[in-house]
Amino acid sequence: MSKKLIFLAIPFLFLFFYSSSAMSTTYNVQGFGAKSDGGSDCTNAFLSAWAAACASVSPATIYVPPGRYLLSAASFWGQNCKNNAITMRIDGTLVAPSDYNVIGRTGNWIKFESVVGLSIYGGTLDGQGTGLWDCKNSGKNCPRRATSLGFYNSNNVLVSGLTSLNSQMFHIIIDGCQNTRLQGLTISAPENSPNTDGIHIISSSGVAIMNSHIGTGDDCISLGPGSSNMWIENINCGPGHGISIGSLGLDMQEAGVKNVTVKTVTFSGTENGLRVKTWAKPSNGFVSGILFQHAVMVNVQNPIIIDQNYCPNNGKCPGQDSGVRISDVTYQDIHGTSATEVAVNFDCSKNNPCSDIKLEDVNLTYNDQPAMASCANAKGSASGLIEPTSCL
Ligand SMILES: *[C@@H]1O[C@H](CO)[C@@H](O)[C@H](O)[C@H]1NC(C)=O
Ligand SMILES: *[C@@H]1O[C@H](CO)[C@@H](O)[C@H](O)[C@H]1NC(C)=O
Repeated sequence: MSKKLIFLAIPFLFLFFYSSSAMSTTYNVQGFGAKSDGGSDCTNAFLSAWAAACASVSPATIYVPPGRYLLSAASFWGQNCKNNAITMRIDGTLVAPSDYNVIGRTGNWIKFESVVGLSIYGGTLDGQGTGLWDCKNSGKNCPRRATSLGFYNSNNVLVSGLTSLNSQMFHIIIDGCQNTRLQGLTISAPENSPNTDGIHIISSSGVAIMNSHIGTGDDCISLGPGSSNMWIENINCGPGHGISIGSLGLDMQEAGVKNVTVKTVTFSGTENGLRVKTWAKPSNGFVSGILFQHAVMVNVQNPIIIDQNYCPNNGKCPGQDSGVRISDVTYQDIHGTSATEVAVNFDCSKNNPCSDIKLEDVNLTYNDQPAMASCANAKGSASGLIEPTSCL
């Protein structure tokens, strides 16, 4: 290098070190050996980049350049991190192994555990679930299956602009987390792919899901036991089974679901729209403080449904009644078309009737006619325009 070049480089070097200490150090996964050819296993490179970012005392960024990166099961642990501001910026696609057994035995493909302060921007996850669905659909003995992206016992997580395709099982799971925001997501799997839920939440509080397109073979979003302070807004759902609170009440001792807002959702050709589902079994679970607002139904089989008699596959509940108490559930400004005659179905528990169910401005039609409503053990009130006529 000439003297002149060295001289020119000094301010740049200064700028580099200055900016990296004041702002964020960037760790490019390719610097840790990741290859963007889609065939070389990059798991160790990603784990090393994570270890470096995690050991940084200042905010750190992990960068994934464009290309395809093969990842086998990868767990990113946060409990010993020296900072609580790790960013993953993904311009590429992370690809699961084509042999479904590799991640299928683990339960999770990409997993974050005990992380505080993580933001993931962009990226595509390709779960390569086809082989496993075929195995499952043919009734063979298959591995237990993996969720594509899991966050466990983590706080302050943001996922923005991520695409998730063809997961073996759930696309995303949020379990035991506080303060999570998922926005601008695209989640996609074929309508007939088994158990490919879009986003499943359990034992978590303060989760916002916004501005996303979700179409899968199962629930677009499902809220399990212990979900509270949920905000779901501006979602396109379909194909799939709709947005579901539940299944709940499988266990006797179970945390309830409370304070959930679901607003501005379009359901297209889904099996359900807004659903609450509980097992017909004894349980101390509950559902309360739910607002479903501004939903459009396009040819949905069960636009509004509470089903407290869920007991599939010989779940050993004949003659039993759901113990889950459902109260204070409001449906406001719900309109569109039902694919079946019964558009509003409240099938509640005999011993624990649903209470304080409110319908406000609901207009659902079936074959250009007013649809029907069916109520069992449901109490509440209706106001504004209600078609079909309320049975509460
Ligand atoms: C209900 O949840 C929202 C977030 O969805 C939160 O802002 C609000 O404070 C919660 N309300 C209560 C009473 O906890
Ligand atoms: C309900 O919606 C249908 C279809 O959009 C519409 O034709 C009908 O007028 C609405 N009913 C009322 C009472 O507004």
